[in-house]
Amino acid sequence: TGMFTYDPGYMSTGSCSSSITYIDGDAGILRYRGYDIAELAENCDFMEVAYLLLRGELPNAKERDEFHWTISHHTMVHEQLHKFVDGFRRDAHPMAIMCGVVGALSAFYHDSIDITDPYQRMVAQHRLVAKMPTIAAWAYKYSQGQPFAYPRNKLNYAENFLHMMFSTPCEEYEVNPVLAKAMDRILILHADHEQNASTSTVRLAGSSGANPFACIAAGIASLWGPAHGGANEAVLNMLNQIGTPDRVGEFVKRAKDKDDSFRLMGFGHRVYKNYDPRAKLMARTCHEVLAEVGAEDEPLLKIAMQLEKIALEDDYFIEKKLYPNVDFYSGIVFRAMGIPTTMFTCLFALARTVGWISQWKEMIEDPDQKIGRPRQLYQGATARPFISMEQRG
Ligand code: CMC
Repeated sequence: TGMFTYDPGYMSTGSCSSSITYIDGDAGILRYRGYDIAELAENCDFMEVAYLLLRGELPNAKERDEFHWTISHHTMVHEQLHKFVDGFRRDAHPMAIMCGVVGALSAFYHDSIDITDPYQRMVAQHRLVAKMPTIAAWAYKYSQGQPFAYPRNKLNYAENFLHMMFSTPCEEYEVNPVLAKAMDRILILHADHEQNASTSTVRLAGSSGANPFACIAAGIASLWGPAHGGANEAVLNMLNQIGTPDRVGEFVKRAKDKDDSFRLMGFGHRVYKNYDPRAKLMARTCHEVLAEVGAEDEPLLKIAMQLEKIALEDDYFIEKKLYPNVDFYSGIVFRAMGIPTTMFTCLFALARTVGWISQWKEMIEDPDQKIGRPRQLYQGATARPFISMEQRG
């Protein structure tokens, strides 16, 4: 094309330089700031990982405590924002509520944000990371017709989220340490994944100098789709649709049929051409959680395991290098924790907020940063004479 490369889907376009996340898709490697995802998931809590992604280094004990204190003290959301939630239909998808309410936050922190000021950028990061679980839990409470539960500073990030989801004025949710730990690990696994669709959306929106809260709302919109973060919800719907392990073969056959639009949800990845390292950790977490809640016989897990077995032995999936991705087991874990299907993608969004805002910060601070402005291959009509209304037939 001469002046630019035609690359739909940005299959071969590097849109930025970044020091945050490294992926080797062929080897199935994922690292945050140089640290292997498995080591982080096994040894850190989500706040340490958030600190690492935002600041570049793991915190020492004092830095971790200070960071946790700061995040805890930003978890409250302005009371007026309840009115936005109340404006939604009762059956609104929680992702619609998240997208709208986080976008609305931009109006609460608009005049107060000067993104050229590093301190103000940092406060915006803290606010977003802190308020996301509160907003996600509100979206759920609204769907249940229950009053919103306020955050508790004595709890850690994952515990606090579970508390806000499940506490009622009649009964405080007793946080189960195994489930809280599993939730924390799931948040770590979803925290960042370099230039995926939603992160690229946040960067593109932010490249014009837009309000960061509005940029994150744009990221939420992009994440919502079933090809991206919406896949975890789609996986569970698919497993329910399959119904029994003996019907797995039939669905694998459909996924291979080019005339059938059905795909195996939770399978395949643009970058991983090997087993997604997050999926391995997720599968383990899944077994731990099911054992804890006494659901080892969960029928959906049996279907998922059968599906994985059949697909991994099938030539179509082998040739196309389609392996389970992070979303394949996460839905089963969430379900076992009592989280409804429509909330799955909200959980992805609250974890990924850390990555989005780290990437936004990196972009704003990059001296090479320019407004994102892809080109196009124009294929419409060539120049033609104008036709007046009378001549248009
Ligand atoms: N089931 C059946 N066939 C598939 C699947 C699947 N899940 N994924 C890809 N293929 C086939 C596809 O039909 C194509 O075949 P052909 O070359 O003959 O046309 C080939 O594999 C390559 O697929 P593609 O759609 O060109 O690849 P992509 O890089 O554009 O898409 C993807 C990647 C993740 C959107 C896709 O694999 C997919 O739709 N997977 C299911 C949805 C899913 O699980 N998404 C979550 C991704 S991981 C979490 C996240 O990032 O949000």
